[in-house]
Amino acid sequence: MFKDSFIVITGGSSGLGKALAQRFIKCGANLALIARDKNKLSMIREDLSALCTSGQRIEIFPCDVSDYAAIEKTMNTIADTIGLPDILVNSAGILTEGYFEKIPLSTFHEVMDINFFGILNCIKAILPIFRKKREGRIVNISSLAGKIGTFGYTAYCSSKFAVIGLTDVLRAELKPLNIKLHVVCPGEFESPMVDELNTYRTTENRVVAQTVPVLSLDAVADDVIKGIEKERYLIIPGFIARFLEMTSRWFPSISRAIIDYQISRVYRSPQ
Ligand SMILES: NC(=O)c1ccc[n+]([C@@H]2O[C@H](COP(=O)([O-])OP(=O)(O)OC[C@H]3O[C@@H](n4cnc5c(N)ncnc54)[C@H](OP(=O)(O)O)[C@@H]3O)[C@@H](O)[C@H]2O)c1
Repeated sequence: MFKDSFIVITGGSSGLGKALAQRFIKCGANLALIARDKNKLSMIREDLSALCTSGQRIEIFPCDVSDYAAIEKTMNTIADTIGLPDILVNSAGILTEGYFEKIPLSTFHEVMDINFFGILNCIKAILPIFRKKREGRIVNISSLAGKIGTFGYTAYCSSKFAVIGLTDVLRAELKPLNIKLHVVCPGEFESPMVDELNTYRTTENRVVAQTVPVLSLDAVADDVIKGIEKERYLIIPGFIARFLEMTSRWFPSISRAIIDYQISRVYRSPQ
């Protein structure tokens, strides 16, 4: 499915974006990777080049997804210099955790600007290109925290719930244009994002978020690839995460009671 296809990946320099890039390259795809840090992108391109067969291309485009003008210019440069992309993977994102009252307003704006508007910007910018091509595929990385409210994630959950809303509407709106959408909702997995979170997270957040065992990056990336190949709209890596998402949908009061019980245990345990 991915052989000879051309895939744009935001957040392609780290974590899930990078793990997906490795898999796409092994399948014979060509890549354009977007992230802010040019040095990190260059290092990843070097690593990925070792997996390439002759003729495969990996190009890097340092750009901030929250800056619409810059993203529009980048997408047009990609189309003019490499060709019309087949797939857009929106993996760029940031995470902050903490008590709502302590999180400054500016952090809410920053998280929404990157996690939600970053995805919206990339889709807006690539849509004219997909229209020209008369087809396209968009993979939006949300989170299980975009399905279930998670302690300490007021900013993050808001942005990830918004991504699911956006994707749900676009799935129907873009179908007649032959543009397919997927939304990916992983629970926690091993990545630099989580390494950083572990340096400051609240106990309540760790207990609630890790109701789902932390998955390996490889397991998540493999499930995402499988989900795309099987044309699944909603991709939730891992059985326990799928079970929890279903429970929260079918039995929301049970789901809330479990969360409240977990938090009450944290407050009862000696500090
Ligand atoms: N890790 C988890 O447990 C987990 C669970 C559920 C969902 N997710 C979601 O999965 C996605 C990938 O997460 P990850 O764990 O792989 O994170 P990661 O390792 O921290 O990678 C994040 C990537 O996004 C890029 N990025 C961040 N802000 C950007 C911006 N403004 N413009 C362009 N690129 C930007 C980063 O590069 P630069 O900093 O150089 O820009 C980096 O390449 C995120 O959307 C995250 O919310 C993660």
